[in-house]
Amino acid sequence: MLHLTQLAELRATLAIWRSAGERIALVPTMGNLHRGHLALVEAAQRHAAHVVVSIFVNPLQFGVGEDLAAYPRTLAEDQRHLETSGCALLFAPAVAEMYPHGQAAQTRLEVPDLSTQLCGASRPWHFAGVATVVCKLFNMVQPDVALFGEKDFQQLLVIRRFVRDLNLPLEIIGLPTVREADGLALSSRNSYLSPAERARAPLLYQTLTTAAQSLQSGAAVAAVEQAAVLALQAADFKPDYVAVRRAADLAPVTAADEDLVVLAAAQLGRTRLIDNVRVTR
Ligand code: PAF
Repeated sequence: MLHLTQLAELRATLAIWRSAGERIALVPTMGNLHRGHLALVEAAQRHAAHVVVSIFVNPLQFGVGEDLAAYPRTLAEDQRHLETSGCALLFAPAVAEMYPHGQAAQTRLEVPDLSTQLCGASRPWHFAGVATVVCKLFNMVQPDVALFGEKDFQQLLVIRRFVRDLNLPLEIIGLPTVREADGLALSSRNSYLSPAERARAPLLYQTLTTAAQSLQSGAAVAAVEQAAVLALQAADFKPDYVAVRRAADLAPVTAADEDLVVLAAAQLGRTRLIDNVRVTR
């Protein structure tokens, strides 16, 4: 596996693969790789001859007072995982390589509407930061296909939207959330949980699963959302939101919608957890 940090080297290597007519897949990550990331790398191999994984803790998507400094950085371990995963090239640029003119001067990509609701309502900078770095990575790698986990469901839709709106010539694939045996969605931020919080954390997924079952039984959206908020509060979570939305575009649900998603973000101690469950009714 190649390990590159410079854009010029990356482009030179990719040019060789591309001129041989070989397909390239990209799996963008912020590192601290877990089974969810490795599932993306494994799936990527079914879509391309070469899998590129990027590791970049993107400062642009963190707000003031958030966990940018504390975010787990485990490059040596990540590299070991990737060596045996089928990844052909790890691209791990420094901040100065990604934002050579500084973060304040960086042109940003705004995806209206989708970026300002749910997680975007309480973290208004976040999705512009995500969209900007992902778009830069798409331009750097020019992959045929890029893969993302559905755990970050709103992020996946934001990325699909700008790819569509900017006519970027690549396919976006979303893969189902990978979970612990007790249902907790894998996330690098789970390492922030104390043992007591870790024991309570699966309640988020259980609450969403209960909400999904209620919707399938015909319960009203507002009642389902309210019951989920109360269940989380009773377990000492501080819910940011629980929302039932149309899965295609996160629009409010109408009677005609069949493909829904229940999404939640909640604080557990100092950790912000997000999760979602799809529902067909
Ligand atoms: O989901 C993530 O890890 C990040 O938001 C991403 C897509 C790599 C952009 O920094």
